[in-house]
Amino acid sequence: MRRNDPRRNDNAQYDELADQWWEPAGGFAMLHWLAAARAEHIPPAAANGAVLVDLACGGGLMAPHAARLGYRHVGVDLNLSGLRTAREHGVLAVRGSVLQVPLADACADVVVAGEVLEHVEDDVAVLAECARLLRPGGTLVVDAIADTRLAGWIAVDLFERIPGGPPPGIHDPALFVDRRRLLAAADRLGLDLRLWGLRPSVRDLVAWRRGRRATVRMRRLPLTSVLFAGSGVKRATVAAAGPGGHDPVRRHGSPSPPTVVT
Ligand SMILES: C[S@@+](CC[C@H](N)C(=O)[O-])C[C@H]1O[C@@H](n2cnc3c(N)ncnc32)[C@H](O)[C@@H]1O
Repeated sequence: MRRNDPRRNDNAQYDELADQWWEPAGGFAMLHWLAAARAEHIPPAAANGAVLVDLACGGGLMAPHAARLGYRHVGVDLNLSGLRTAREHGVLAVRGSVLQVPLADACADVVVAGEVLEHVEDDVAVLAECARLLRPGGTLVVDAIADTRLAGWIAVDLFERIPGGPPPGIHDPALFVDRRRLLAAADRLGLDLRLWGLRPSVRDLVAWRRGRRATVRMRRLPLTSVLFAGSGVKRATVAAAGPGGHDPVRRHGSPSPPTVVT
């Protein structure tokens, strides 16, 4: 598919790929590796009922990590087939857009926004939702693809042609993320966000390709110009509600509760 093909980043692709979410060597294999890398930056739950909101949860690949760390895992996504899969893995699956999340302010001890900032028209609006959902002192973890020529070449021109790479057409390089703009927005929104680069371990990748490893570890890089991750804490500018104990599935001021996938 050409770089500027209008079918790029079509959400319907996730329906066609619905059976791939939990395939360790399927089209979403790298998302499993990234989920494990995200989990390294999430502190264990400080209290019973602590909430991890997973924005654009897809098939719920964060589920084993959220459970191990002691969180109630609430996943938000637009794609119903992904949400159904997430629910099968224990996620409280809520249908909604990451641009206007149907959950209450400050309901989350942790917000994860993995591989979604580069799939929306307004990544800063998603970051604003992360800030709104987090309680003061709560943790944000993100990862995305940088808006650089190198990232476009690697993620689209190269990887889409490699068997076992990301599904062709899943990324639109026009939506890749401007890191400087993201960091400036984070600061305005009261988020102390730090970014670093990520790459798969080459040794693990070779072993995985040969069927000798089930998964591939992600390595940290100083270079953020292709795949980058970030974590941070929401500054405690208002009185903290304290960890845990929130009812996340109700947006303040909203007349009707959001759609929970059952
Ligand atoms: C590349 S997948 C990442 C899934 C998951 N975060 C992971 O890393 O396994 C992108 C996800 O974003 C979702 N998505 C895209 N735009 C969205 C939006 N505006 N609101 C909610 N979900 C969205 C898609 O449905 C898909 O599940």
